[in-house]
Amino acid sequence: MEAKRKVFSGVQPTGNMHIGNYLGAFRNWVKLQDEYDTIYCVVDLHALTQPIEPDVLHAQRLDAAKVLLAVGIDPRKSLFYLQSQVPQHAELSWILGTLTPTGVLNRMTSYKDKVARGIPANVGLYAYPVLMAADILLHRCDLVPVGDDQRQHLEMTRDLAERFNNRYGEVFPLPDALIPPTSARVMSLAEPTAKMSKSDPNPRSRILITDSPDDIRKKIKSAVTDSDPDVRYDWEEKPGISNLLEIMADCTGRTIDDLVAEYGSGGYGRFKEAAAEAVVAELAPVRTRFKELDDAEVARLMQKGALDARTQAEGYQQEVRKAVGLNAV
Ligand code: TRP
Repeated sequence: MEAKRKVFSGVQPTGNMHIGNYLGAFRNWVKLQDEYDTIYCVVDLHALTQPIEPDVLHAQRLDAAKVLLAVGIDPRKSLFYLQSQVPQHAELSWILGTLTPTGVLNRMTSYKDKVARGIPANVGLYAYPVLMAADILLHRCDLVPVGDDQRQHLEMTRDLAERFNNRYGEVFPLPDALIPPTSARVMSLAEPTAKMSKSDPNPRSRILITDSPDDIRKKIKSAVTDSDPDVRYDWEEKPGISNLLEIMADCTGRTIDDLVAEYGSGGYGRFKEAAAEAVVAELAPVRTRFKELDDAEVARLMQKGALDARTQAEGYQQEVRKAVGLNAV
C-alpha cells in the first residue's frame, strides 16, 4: 500500500478563535484526518514573536488545544502537540536560517504589515517565516493547508527546501499548498469589508467558536447590514448580507441560491434569525465538547503528542545534522 501523504498545519495560540478560523481552516483539518497522515501543531513559539504576557500565553495555548480537540482533531488520528515541546523545531529553524538570505525576509509582506501596524520589529518576528518553514519541513510534509495570507511563507519554505537539497543533498520533499474545495471567506460582522479577525478590538465583530447560543444570536442580530431589505448575494452593494449568506451556506451545506430563494424577500429580521440558528446548530456541539474537556486530561494528551513528535522529529533531525556536518562525534 502506498504511504499516505503527510499534511502539516499550525495555528498560533492567540485567543479569540472565531468562526472564520473554524469554517476556513479547522473544519477542513478535521476532514483531512481521514485521508492523510496529519500533523497539527499549536505554534506557541510563533506567538512569542509579538508582545504577550507569560500567563496569557500559558493559558491560551491550552485553550487553543482545547478548541481544536473540541472541533474534532483526534489525537488517535493526528499527531497533535505544542510546538515549544518539540525542540527540533527551533533547531531546524536555526539551520534553515543560515540558508535564508536577508533579502528574501525583507520582502515578506506579513512582516512588513506587522511592523507597519506598530508591532515591535525583532529578530524573532523577522525570522517568523523561517520557523514556519522548519515546522513544515521537520516532519517532511507534502501538503500544507494554508490561507492566502500564508502563501508567500509557503513559497519561501519550498525555496528553502530546494536550497538545502542543492547544498547538502536530497533531504526535504517540496511541500505544496492544499486548497480546500470550498473555503468560506468570513468577514467582520461590524465591518463586512474587512476579514473577521482575532485582534479586532470590537468583540461584536466576530463569533467565537466557543460563544454561547445567545451570544451568537445577539452578534448576528447586530451585524452591520445596509438599509434596503432584499436578501441578495452581492459583495459590492451588500457585503454584510453576503457575509451572512456565506456563513449560513457553509454551516448548513445549502447553496447560496437556495438560501436567497427562501429568504430573499422575507426581510432581514427573518433571515438573520435563520442564519443565527444555523450557526448555533453548527457550533453548539463544539461548545459542548469544549466544556466537557478536562484540563488535566488535555495536558496529558498534549504531553503524549509531544513525546511522539519528538521521537519522530529526532529521527529526521539526525539526517539533517548529518547532512550539514553536525552528526554525533
Ligand atoms: N503562520 C501561520 C498562521 O499565522 C501559522 C503557522 C506556523 C503555520 N507554522 C505553520 C501554518 C506551518 C502552516 C504550517 O496562520
